[in-house]
Amino acid sequence: MTGPLQIVLGTISVLFLIVSSVLAYRAVRAMVRIIRTGQPDGTRFGPVKSRLKTLAIESLGHTRMLKWSAIGAAHWFVFVGFYGLFLTLVEAFGEVWNPAFHLPLIGEWSLWNLFADIIGTGTILGILYLIYRRQKDHPRRQGRKSRFAGTNEGRGYFVEAVVLTVGVAILLIRALKVSSDLTDAPAWSHPISGALAAILPDSPDLLTVVAFVKIVVSLTWLVVISRILNMGVAWHRFSAFFNIYFKREDDGTVALGPLQPMTSGGKPIDFEDPGEDDVFGRGKIEDFTWKGMLDFTTCTECGRCQSQCPAWNTGKPLSPKMVIMDLRDHLYAKAPTCSARRRRPRRRRTTTSSSPPTSRPGRRATPASRGPTTRRRTGRWSARSRRAGSSTPTSCGAARAAAPAWSSARSTSSTSTTSWTCAATRC
Ligand code: HEM
Ligand code: SF4
Repeated sequence: MTGPLQIVLGTISVLFLIVSSVLAYRAVRAMVRIIRTGQPDGTRFGPVKSRLKTLAIESLGHTRMLKWSAIGAAHWFVFVGFYGLFLTLVEAFGEVWNPAFHLPLIGEWSLWNLFADIIGTGTILGILYLIYRRQKDHPRRQGRKSRFAGTNEGRGYFVEAVVLTVGVAILLIRALKVSSDLTDAPAWSHPISGALAAILPDSPDLLTVVAFVKIVVSLTWLVVISRILNMGVAWHRFSAFFNIYFKREDDGTVALGPLQPMTSGGKPIDFEDPGEDDVFGRGKIEDFTWKGMLDFTTCTECGRCQSQCPAWNTGKPLSPKMVIMDLRDHLYAKAPTCSARRRRPRRRRTTTSSSPPTSRPGRRATPASRGPTTRRRTGRWSARSRRAGSSTPTSCGAARAAAPAWSSARSTSSTSTTSWTCAATRC
């Protein structure tokens, strides 16, 4: 069954896999490094058993999201489809070379086939519903009242398009296996794709092409998110698990109740006799704990906090969502300088902690004034930093004049909560 078409598309798939895996590895490594620049918060690791239990209940059971009924149910299918049908991506790498390929051991197993059919269909219906809701709640319809006001909608569309395309490809591949007589699984194990097969041709080559499209779309998604670390709507599907595991209360209850003691460097501040180096509050992004940074990273920009916020709902330019988005964007724009400063030998540390790193005492860093070491260490990042800084309005006044009300609100909220100099745009 392997002809020239299979050889060409199979080779491209393997090469693309290698490139995207390298980029993804580097992105994850960078993200972990960035989050580790946060202040310590040592209380969140144990007890492992109870934290794992909460993780399993809240993620698999979607106990929080199902409070939003239909959206929670739709998201559950997309969620289960992403991890549960990961093996269909592995199988696609075989199918692109040989359309008759099945996963070893489980490929022809009826229960696996039934699972793939049901969850594949659920993924398509789930994402269609989420697409519908994003349009129904769109700012163009609801204006400032929309929970998506200020959200980066383009990223949401991209993520939705990828999920939909991959879901459709999964069903099409299964249906083409039936129509091309390439499966021995019983008919009851593929009820939906079996019905779809009735309108599809007997064409193993078409199966190869669909498998190729599935691979290319999945890997393109991987490459895009590897280049955009502040794309919470995509990254949350990995980071949300850590977010739940490391939640404040180890028994799984919500983080409400009395205020936590103010800490500096992970230790509570003694207000009677504060340490000389104690930092009060958060004046710059490095003052946040690593958990705070993980929280920023995981924000999906769903706008639920914004829609509950009394300030936002009474017309004030303050939105919790936009504060979180700005902090996240600023973190990923500034992180290269923070990471470089962390790694640089002590004698080269020449600035106060509130200023960007410099190569000489008393001088602010500019591209020209930074020494060769700094330039080398941060150069790899500069394009991304610029992108992160330019893609969204920040405290640097990058909001465009014609931006809608919530964009300028976003800029205002950032300014009002931060006092740093943006490392990305250097303004
Ligand atoms: C425990 C893990 C997860 C949690 C807590 C979580 C939470 C959320 C939340 C709160 C939203 C916003 C929903 C809304 O706008 O109404 C969202 C959106 C989304 N999630 Fe997750 N998620 C998780 C894992 C995943 C996984 C594994 C996937 C895999 C595909 C995924 C895919 C999506 C997509 C595609 C959207 C965007 C939906 C839209 O366009 O409106 N999530 N998620
Ligand atoms: S911070 Fe707000 S916008 Fe972000 S995920 Fe949480 S509720 Fe949604």
